[in-house]
Amino acid sequence: MNIALLGFGTVGKGFYDLTVGREDVKVTAVLSRRPREELTCLVSDDFHEILASDVDIVVEVMGGLHPAYEYVCEALRAGKHVVTANKWLMCEYYQELVKLAKENGVALRCTAAAGGGIPWLTNLERVARFDSIYKVEGILNGTTNFMLDAMTKNGSDYGEILAEAQRLGFAEADPTADVEGYDARRKIVLSANIAFGVDLKEADVACFGIATVSAADIAAFTERGLVCRLIASAEQAADGSITATVEPTLFPAAAAEAAIVSSGNRVVLYAKHIGEQSFSGAGAGGWPTGSSVLCDCLNILDGCRQFYTDQFTPASAAGNALRRYYIRTSAPLSVAVEESLGSGIVTAPIPAAQAHRMIAALRAEDNTAFMAALR
Ligand SMILES: NC(=O)c1ccc[n+]([C@@H]2O[C@H](COP(=O)([O-])OP(=O)(O)OC[C@H]3O[C@@H](n4cnc5c(N)ncnc54)[C@H](OP(=O)(O)O)[C@@H]3O)[C@@H](O)[C@H]2O)c1
Repeated sequence: MNIALLGFGTVGKGFYDLTVGREDVKVTAVLSRRPREELTCLVSDDFHEILASDVDIVVEVMGGLHPAYEYVCEALRAGKHVVTANKWLMCEYYQELVKLAKENGVALRCTAAAGGGIPWLTNLERVARFDSIYKVEGILNGTTNFMLDAMTKNGSDYGEILAEAQRLGFAEADPTADVEGYDARRKIVLSANIAFGVDLKEADVACFGIATVSAADIAAFTERGLVCRLIASAEQAADGSITATVEPTLFPAAAAEAAIVSSGNRVVLYAKHIGEQSFSGAGAGGWPTGSSVLCDCLNILDGCRQFYTDQFTPASAAGNALRRYYIRTSAPLSVAVEESLGSGIVTAPIPAAQAHRMIAALRAEDNTAFMAALR
C-alpha cells in the first residue's frame, strides 16, 4: 500500500524509518513545509498534490486541529484510508470523522493517539466487543510522570525539574498541555468513548494538573509512604453516569503505579467478566509511536475497516465517585477533614466533581494551592 505522510517530525520520521525496506507498505509522498533532501519520494508542501498522487493511506502526524481536520476530511472524501496519531483531532471530531469514513467506505484508525507505542485503544476496542468495561485509568502522560518521579527521587522543586525535563526533551518549551493535564485529558476522552460507547467531550473531564505541586508536598507524601502520579480516569456507574477526571493521585509505595518511573505509561481497563487488564510501556517517542501507526496501516492492509466504536450513547459526566483528597492551601477551607498530612489536610470522601470545583475556587484565591486524590 502506498502511504502519504503528512508531517515529518518525531512521529513522522519514526514511522518512515520503520517502513524503509518494506514491500507491503511504502511511503510514496510526504507533505513538508521544508525541503527533505534525504527523501527520494514525492515531497511537497501542497496537500492537493500529495492527495492526487497514487496513495492508499493518508497518515496524519502533523498535530494540531487545523489544517489537520480539513486534510483528514478531504482524504476520507477522496476514498483514502486515514491513520492519525492526533489525539486532539480525534477527541474533538471523532464522531464526525467516523461518520465520514463510513460514508466513504474507508478505515479510520488512531491507535497511537492514546498510549503512544502501547496497543491500548486496540485492546479497548477488542474487549468492548465481548465484555462490559466499567473503568479505564492510568498514567497517560510521560512528561508529568518523569517530573513527579524525579521530584520524588531528588527532592527537587517543581521549577528545577521542569527545566531539567525541557533540557532532556521530555517537556516542550510550552509545557502547559502536559503539566495542566490537558494532554492526558484528551487521551482519557478517547479511551472512555471507546470503552463505554459514549461521546464525552474534553469539557466533561474534571482536570487538575501538577503545576502547583511542591517539594514539600512530595516530601510529606514520601514520609507517609505515598507516591504521587498524574492519573487520568473514567468510570461508569451502574446508572450509566460517568466520573471522568485527570488529577494527581497518591498511591502506596508498593502499588503498580508507583513502579512506573521516568516517562513510562501504565493504563488499566476493568471489565465485568475478564476483570483487570493492564498495559505499560513507552507512551511516546518516534519509533514506539511510529510502530502503532505502522500497525494500524498493516491492519488496514489486512482488511480491517471497523472503527474502535461507532456507538455514541449520550452520557452524563456527573462526577459522583467518592474520593478522599489531600488539599494544601493558605485559603480558608470548608470541608470535613479526616486528618492532616504535611502542611495540608485529607478530606472525608467527597464527590470528585465537588473536589474539582473546590480546588478551582481555591486557586483563584491562592494560586499555589495543590490537591491530590488518595487511593
Ligand atoms: N511525539 C510523540 O511521542 C507522540 C506520541 C503520540 C502521539 N503524538 C501525536 O503525533 C502528532 C505529531 O507529533 P510529533 O511529536 O511528531 O510533532 P512534531 O515533531 O512537532 O512534528 C510535526 C510535523 O508536522 C509538520 N507540520 C505541522 N503543521 C504542518 C502543516 N500545516 N503543513 C505541513 N507540515 C506541517 C511539522 O513541520 P515543521 O517541521 O515545518 O514545523 C513537523 O514536521 C501530534 O498529533 C501528537 O499529538 C506524538
